[in-house]
Amino acid sequence: MTATLIRGRTLSFRHAPAGLEDKGAYGYEPDGALLIEDGLILASGSFDAMRAQAPDDAVEIDHRPHLILPGFIDTHLHFPQMQVIGSYAANLLEWLNTYTFPEECRFVETAHAQRIATHFFDEMVRHGTTTAVAYCSVHKTSADAFFDEALRRNMRMVAGKVMMDRNAPQGLLDTPETSYDETRAVIAEWHGKGRNHVAITPRFAITSTPEQMSAAQALVREFPDLHVQTHLSENRDEIDFTCSLYPEANDYTDVYARYGLLGPKTLFGHCIHLSEREMDAMSETGSVAVHCPTSNLFLGSGLFPLRTLTNRDKPVRVSFATDIGGGTSYSMLRTLDEAYKIQQLLGERFNPFESFYYMTLGNARALSLEERIGTLEPGTDADFTVLDMTATPAMALKAEVVNSLADELFLLQTMGDDRAIAETYVAGVAAKTRLGTPSP
Ligand code: GUN
Ligand code: ZN
Repeated sequence: MTATLIRGRTLSFRHAPAGLEDKGAYGYEPDGALLIEDGLILASGSFDAMRAQAPDDAVEIDHRPHLILPGFIDTHLHFPQMQVIGSYAANLLEWLNTYTFPEECRFVETAHAQRIATHFFDEMVRHGTTTAVAYCSVHKTSADAFFDEALRRNMRMVAGKVMMDRNAPQGLLDTPETSYDETRAVIAEWHGKGRNHVAITPRFAITSTPEQMSAAQALVREFPDLHVQTHLSENRDEIDFTCSLYPEANDYTDVYARYGLLGPKTLFGHCIHLSEREMDAMSETGSVAVHCPTSNLFLGSGLFPLRTLTNRDKPVRVSFATDIGGGTSYSMLRTLDEAYKIQQLLGERFNPFESFYYMTLGNARALSLEERIGTLEPGTDADFTVLDMTATPAMALKAEVVNSLADELFLLQTMGDDRAIAETYVAGVAAKTRLGTPSP
C-alpha cells in the first residue's frame, strides 16, 4: 500500500495535563502531518519534515485548517441498548427492568443483532470514536454479530458476552456453566482476530449468583491478560440490594474482590458512591473507575467525585465513557462536556486539555492499550479523527473570537457533536466519508 501524508494541525498528548499552562503534556503542530502506511502511523511531526521523509509517490490529503487528534476511545457502553436511549424512568433499577432487559431479549435473534451492529459501528465512526469497550447481551449470537462487524471494519474493539443468571427475565439468563463455556467460546473465536479484544463481562453482582461469580473468577485466572468489565456503586438502591445478596461482603467492592475480579485490567462502570475503604481497594489493585456523565445525569445516579478519586493519597485510575443507552449521546465531546458540568456542580475545575487527554491517551491508558492507540506516535494504529470547530453556524460564530488552542478545544467540547467530526480514520482509511457506501 502506498504511503499517505495527512496534513493538518495535529495534537497528541504525552501525559495528563497538570493545568492549562502545562505545555509539556502535549505536542501540537500548527502545520503538522502524519505519514501513514498499512494501517499504521509511520511518523508524525511538522509538515515540512514529513514531506521530506515521505516517498515521492505518497498521496497527500490536506485537512487544514482542521485539527487532527487520535481517535476517541469510549470505555463503557452497551451495544444492545441503541434503542433504549431516552427511555423515561425514575432510576437505574426501574430503567433496567422496564426497558433495558426487555430490549436486550431481542438479541437472541441473529438478524436483529447484525442489524444493530451495523448501526453501532456507523455511530462510532460518525462520532469519531475508533475504539469502544462494549457490553453485548447475554446471547453469544450478539457477541458474534458484534465482533464480526468489528472485524469487517478493521476496528480495535473490546467487548464481551454478558454473564447474568438471576434477577432478570428468563430470556436473558444463562447459567454459571453456560456463561463460562460461552465466554470461553467467544474468546477462542474472536480474541486476537483482527483487532478484536474479548472482555470477561459479569454484568453486575445483582444479576450473578455466587456460582456465576466463581465462573467469572475461573475465567480471569485462565485468561489473566483479558479485560474485565462490570458495574459498581451506581445507585443507592443498587448498592443496598447488592449488599443484601452478598451479606458476607464488607461492601459492594468487596463482593467483586472476593471473586478475584479487581485488578489493572478491570473496568468498573460508575463508582459514584464508593467509601474510603472501597477507593483504597480500587487503588491498591489498579482497578479503573469509569465515569459515565450523561448516564449519571439522565438516570439521576449521582455526581462522580473525580477529584476525590484522583487526588487522594492512594489515587484511583479513572476513565470516561458514554454508557449508551443509559447515556444519551454517542459523542465523547458531549460526554466530556457533561463531565465538566458535573465538576462545576462539585465546585471543581476540569480544564479542556484534561478532557481531550482523557478522550484519547487517558482512556487508552485505562485500557493498558497506549502502545497501540490514543496518541499520534509512530508505530501506533492509524486511528485518528479530524475536528472542525466551525461545523455549525453557531460554532463558526463563536470560532471568530477563539484565539488559543485551549479556547478551540473548549468550543469543540461545549458545542460539538458528530457534526464537528470532519473525518474519522480507521487503520489509515477515511471511514466517515465512506459511511453508507458498500465496502470494496
Ligand atoms: N448496571 C447493570 N446493568 C446496567 C446497564 O445496562 N446500564 C447501567 N447504566 N447500569 C447497569
Ligand atoms: Zn453500563
